[in-house]
Amino acid sequence: MSNNRVTRRQFLNYTLTGVGGFMAAGMLMPMVRFAIDPVLQTKAEGDFILTSQKVADITEEPISVNFTFEQVDAWYKSDVTEAAWVYKSGDQIVALSPVCKHLGCTVNWAGDSEHPEQFFCPCHLGRYEKNGQNVAGTPPLGPLDQYEVAEKDGFLMIGKKVPNTFS
Ligand code: FES
Repeated sequence: MSNNRVTRRQFLNYTLTGVGGFMAAGMLMPMVRFAIDPVLQTKAEGDFILTSQKVADITEEPISVNFTFEQVDAWYKSDVTEAAWVYKSGDQIVALSPVCKHLGCTVNWAGDSEHPEQFFCPCHLGRYEKNGQNVAGTPPLGPLDQYEVAEKDGFLMIGKKVPNTFS
């Protein structure tokens, strides 16, 4: 007779371990899936958001254009409204982020009466040229970001934020 016989106790141990492991995996999988669900969601990066701004009404004078999009923060969805400074430069439409590259305040066009052709950040007197380039000697150390733009049925669409290519 062989010495490799499985005893009744060993057989029960193996069987219960196998079945128990299988059941535990069955319970844990949905929990793990639930926990990492937001990571698995496909993102619509690069989508353009339609604004109410007519392209024909955009001039060389920067105007603030609002756009609203749905923000997904884990399982919480909310509508967020942001703005861009938009103007025409030749045939090109320029859309710049209003977020100061120093500490994140909002910049205004012609906000400083001494420099009416620049963007001005009131928090620490930061200034930017019209193309978003930061003015040397003021707190911001980088240019304003820009947005990709597109047109649909005569209206402006705002895309994703990218590093400034105009400066
Ligand atoms: S936050 Fe704009 S200059 Fe400091």
